Amino acid sequence: DKIPATLIPGDGIGPEIADAVVAVLDGLGAPFAWENQLAGMAAVADSGDPLPLQTIESIRRTGLALKGPLTTPVGGGFKSINVTLRQEFELFANLRPARTLIPGGRFDRIDIVLVRENLEGFYAAMENWLPINHDPKAVAMSTGFNTRAECARIVRYAFEHAVKNGRKRVTVVHKANILKALTGLFLEEGRKVAKEYEGRVEMNDRIVDACAMQLVLDPWQYDVIVTTNLFGDILSDLIAGLVGGLGMAPGANIGENAAIFEAVHGSAPDIAGKGVANPLAMLLSTELMLRHVGRIDLAERLTKAIDTVLANGLRTRDLGGTAGTRDVADAILQQLR
Ligand code: NAI
Ligand code: MG
Repeated sequence: DKIPATLIPGDGIGPEIADAVVAVLDGLGAPFAWENQLAGMAAVADSGDPLPLQTIESIRRTGLALKGPLTTPVGGGFKSINVTLRQEFELFANLRPARTLIPGGRFDRIDIVLVRENLEGFYAAMENWLPINHDPKAVAMSTGFNTRAECARIVRYAFEHAVKNGRKRVTVVHKANILKALTGLFLEEGRKVAKEYEGRVEMNDRIVDACAMQLVLDPWQYDVIVTTNLFGDILSDLIAGLVGGLGMAPGANIGENAAIFEAVHGSAPDIAGKGVANPLAMLLSTELMLRHVGRIDLAERLTKAIDTVLANGLRTRDLGGTAGTRDVADAILQQLR
């Protein structure tokens, strides 16, 4: 009855936060049977390959992975490992929730789920230079694309997420007034899919720049946001900033056959190996992972323990405190007992 899952500790702060997270999951009685695998610099050191076949095969087998941050080697022509994984497993949806975990601040009681399209848009762009006279880079060009099928699939995913989680509204974010084809299609499919959910989930739409302003002035009007790849990348960092920054921002990459859970932050080389990184972003990613496998009970127990520990005042350095990575794990483990 254990669920096989791939664990990639990752680079930089990855191994230390992964240790803390696995310890907490053990204390929680989470049902995962971990298959440890390498990727990133750790894999380069081991085999010369930043994304070994063995790691890909493990994820193909388990369909479920918890991944630490990876340092993409600079130079050497390596393609981003994260992008490769998204494409390899067709992880079309990037789920980024933002919830106020430390009450009493300027952005109290925020509870927003952002769903970002993960495979298309400008991030799948064909980029080109055009020379003029002696300047080989006189003109830079980028051609993005969105397919109708993918627009429909990601919007439907957002509505289904809303239905399953008792959420009331989905906001489709676009720039259909300017990018009439690229994001006009997204809005068109958004309106179409919304009709299937009439009476159950409300739909509205916002132009991305206005949405960015509203997210700062009045974030409480948002429930679920669904948007294209580039806009989703930017707005998800914005909502992470509303609730405490990178150390508190979890994420999930979801496909039909596999899902990879990871914190939004990177490998933080500036604090790696010091035992001071905030493990909460990765831990909150496992909350999403528990929900994904249907263990809502454990997800809720975990959330409650995290909330209590923060309410008791425990803070890592990124939140202005002095607690270390292991202190956070220990405090949560104590709550779980
Ligand atoms: P970063 O997120 O690693 O660090 C930015 C700042 O936030 C640093 O000051 C860092 O100390 C701090 N920070 C990040 N996570 C933290 C945590 N859990 N607790 C406390 N402080 C934290 O971004 P940066 O520096 O741009 O990238 C470093 C490396 O990570 C690069 O090689 C980049 O490619 C990679 N990266 C990997 C990602 C992934 O695997 N999902 C995502 C983003 C970056
Ligand atoms: Mg980003």
